[in-house]
Order: sequence, then C-alpha cells, then structure tokens
Amino acid sequence: MSASIDAAQVAQAFADTFGTAPDGVWSAPGRVNLIGEHTDYNEGFVLPFAIDRAAAVAIRLREDNTARLHSSYGEQATLTVDLNTLSPDSMEGWTAYPLGVVWVMRQLGVAIGGFDLYLHSTVPSGAGLSSSAAIECAVATAFNELENAGLSLRELVLVGQRAENEVVGAPTGILDQSASLLATDGHAVFLDCRTQESHLVPLDLAAAGLLILVVDTKVSHAHATGGYSARRASCELGAEVLGVVSLRDLTAADLPEAAGLLDEETYRRVRHIVRENQRVLDTVAMLDDGGPGTIGELLTASHASMRDDFEISCAELDLAVDTALANGALGARMTGGGFGGSAIALIPAAALASVRDAVSTAFADAGFSAPDIFAVSPAPGARKVS
Ligand code: GLA
Repeated sequence: MSASIDAAQVAQAFADTFGTAPDGVWSAPGRVNLIGEHTDYNEGFVLPFAIDRAAAVAIRLREDNTARLHSSYGEQATLTVDLNTLSPDSMEGWTAYPLGVVWVMRQLGVAIGGFDLYLHSTVPSGAGLSSSAAIECAVATAFNELENAGLSLRELVLVGQRAENEVVGAPTGILDQSASLLATDGHAVFLDCRTQESHLVPLDLAAAGLLILVVDTKVSHAHATGGYSARRASCELGAEVLGVVSLRDLTAADLPEAAGLLDEETYRRVRHIVRENQRVLDTVAMLDDGGPGTIGELLTASHASMRDDFEISCAELDLAVDTALANGALGARMTGGGFGGSAIALIPAAALASVRDAVSTAFADAGFSAPDIFAVSPAPGARKVS
C-alpha cells in the first residue's frame, strides 16, 4: 500500500482477516510540528499541521466482550483479548494504542463491547511524526461514532493523551492528538495548550512556491523513557522555583531574574520554553502578514534553541538542518520530541532534488544510515473514510 490511505484496501484487508466486512474505516493523520516544541506540557503554544500519511482502522463491533486485533505491520498474528480483564498493564506492543484508547473511553463511561479491528498505517513509527497519536485518534474517532458517545474533538484529544500517559507510559502533552484531530487541509493548527483553544492558520506552501521536506534520520527515540521525561521534570522544577503555575506564565522580560534563581542547566531549559512560545506567536503573525516565505529564520532559531538550550537534538538532526540550510533552505529544524526522529526544511519547490541529494550525500559521508526524505503538505484531520 502507498503513503496515502486507500480505504477500500483497508476494508478488504479486514475482510480477508476476519471473514466479513467492517462497519467502517476511520483514518487519522500523523503530524509535523512547524514550531513550538516541548511547549505543550508547559501550557504554551504549538503550531502543527497534519501530514498526508495516516493510520487507518477498520472496525466491526461484536456481540461478545472479545477484541481481536490485527495490523498490517509488526507481528502478523491476530491478538485476541478478553475485554473483561482489560487493564493498562495487560497491553502489549502496538495494541497498547488502540486498547489504551478503548480502556480510557470505557473509564469515561462509553460502553465499548467486543470488536474486530484491523490497523494499517503509513506514518513511519519512531520518526517523530506521531505514528502513535495517529492510531489513537483513528480509534477514538471510530468508537466515538460507533458508540454514539458524543465526545467533542477536545475531549477526544484528552482521550488520546490519557492513553499515552496512563497506558503507554509516555508523559506527553496534547500536541500530537490535537494536530491529528483538529487539522484541515492547507492549514496549520495554532493551539493554546492551556485553554485548548485553537484556530486554523493558512499554510499555502504551493502558492508561495515552497515545500516542506521531512528528513527522517531513522534514529529512533522512545518518549516513555529517558530524555523526554527528564526535560519535563526540568521544566516543572523551573516553574516551581520561579513560583509560576507553568512556564507559560513567563515572558522574555522574566529571564534575567530567572537566571539568578535557577541552576545553569534548568535556566537554559526554561529559556528555550519562554523563547519558543514567543517564536510560535511570531510565526503565526508572520504567516498572516507575509506568508510562509517569511518564517524561515524563526524555524532555524527554534532548532538552535533545541540544540543548545534544551539539548534534544543529535548529530544526524543537526547535519540534516545544516545541510538543508547550506543548500537553499529558508529555514530548518528538528520536529517532535527529539533525540532522533525527523527534521523539516522549508525549501523552494525547485530545490527539492538538490536538497534531497545534498542531505543524502552528507549522511553517507558522515557514515550515518541513509535517511528517508520526502515532501509533506498540510492534510485533513481524523475522519471516517469508508
Ligand atoms: C512529542 C510529544 C508531544 C510534544 C512533543 C514535543 O511529540 O508527544 O506531546 O511534547 O514531543 O513538542
């Protein structure tokens, strides 16, 4: 199957696996975060857009309390689960995402009984493009509809986040699920993570003769462990020492005083968040005023801040960014949680082949694994596709 979701093919794969047609097929996209990194769990601002790679689930409700799950990737066996014994500790591998969502929705009182589920995804996993949120949002959207649960999009965002936090064990914010659920074609989603208020910001790259290239470094990350939670802990420490509810409550004017109150490392973490929030606001203003051709420097400044202050980049991401910039990119930055995953570069459409070749060559020269490089454009959010 190709990068875009073919709903008929997913329905057919379901039928081949379970011997009958599904009740429907729902898809939800991965995302690229244009700017605003690690700001979400600090109640700050983010500006993601959905990409034209998605997870799709075909589902048929059953009369009993059994769930059967099958995916087109990873292990090929069908997993059978007794929903009476479902608990956050009992879920394995990829099934933690769909079953985590089912568990959270049942906690909220949605009466989900047995079902058969077939998953197919074109979002590369571990690439910083929210493959897990795509699954969660497809499943949450499906059961919201199948069970007439009536949950709003904002509530579905929180369902996905709870599945991630309480079942998968990754202390992530609401960026990924918000992008996957709220996005529309041709727009980025500006989101205030404190209030969950959002609005769409036009991102017409083609009209400006531009495109956004993703460089998937193939360096994998896992947010359930290690650096991600350490960064979150630093931010919480910073907020506590500075006496604010969250780092969202600080502006650049507070930084000199913060420098005197925090240890050097915590100060740099705080400085990243404060400046990154401002960069998101500046990016939205510049997109409104001058269009995508004007935001390159903000993207690149964001990368420098993640590399030097927040320290979540890596050699491969830095090389992707530097090489893209040296070959005509207007701006470039790592995207997502960091410690691997993908970088994005805003480039003139005509420079696609030259930037791609330059990055591939630079990776080969450095002895790094070959990256996967592809263009993305702002795509629609989660929906029923069949
Ligand atoms: C991951 C998390 C998000 C967000 C980003 C960093 O994608 O899932 O909640 O924190 O990292 O911006």
